[in-house]
Amino acid sequence: MGKLHLGVFASGRGSNFVAIFQAIREGRLNAEIRCLFSNNPEAGALSIAKEQGIPTGIICKSMYESRELFVDAMLHSLKEHGVEFIVLAGYMKKIPPEVISAYRNRVVNIHPALLPSFGGKGMYGHHVHEAVLEYGCKVTGVTVHLVDNEYDHGSVVAQQYVLVEEGDTAETLADRVLRVEHQIYAETLQLFAEDRVEVRGRRTIIRR
Ligand code: GRF
Repeated sequence: MGKLHLGVFASGRGSNFVAIFQAIREGRLNAEIRCLFSNNPEAGALSIAKEQGIPTGIICKSMYESRELFVDAMLHSLKEHGVEFIVLAGYMKKIPPEVISAYRNRVVNIHPALLPSFGGKGMYGHHVHEAVLEYGCKVTGVTVHLVDNEYDHGSVVAQQYVLVEEGDTAETLADRVLRVEHQIYAETLQLFAEDRVEVRGRRTIIRR
């Protein structure tokens, strides 16, 4: 695939976006962030992108008269910015199926648990870590997966475990998981840049 031309979608503070940006700057990831998209004008990720001179775009359904116009605008904007690969980094909306089809196997997400556990609708942010603790899990982790039309459902590309420690709160656990997210996301994107991710149905194979 070579250098990845990324469109990053973020709705919140954007620490994964920053980690990706740093990995590019430090030469660990062969990519370029062509645009940071958000549905939320207050997203921290937007101000960070602006500070770094990365183009930004606000796109959300309520700005358009119809769903079709919204989807057209998203596709147009992605094309206009030369986006070839989509990275969801704390994006709280669903990517429309038309966009998923246009970017087949080139849309990824990161989830702060070991899917298929603790994923799906409503499983985001502190809810995930609270559910892990509530269940009494000894292990949790991070999943990077391809995005399909269901929440947290596409093929798994990478996973890393994180041990739950006695006395963990949702906050302490979230912090440890987040540190792993920051590392694994850039590493996994680099596998795509090196064209080493092969998708075989539900499974992905990482070529040596
Ligand atoms: C991360 O925990 C990620 O796994 C999830 O949303 C959170 C985003 O955090 N999808 P940030 O905005 O990247 O700091």
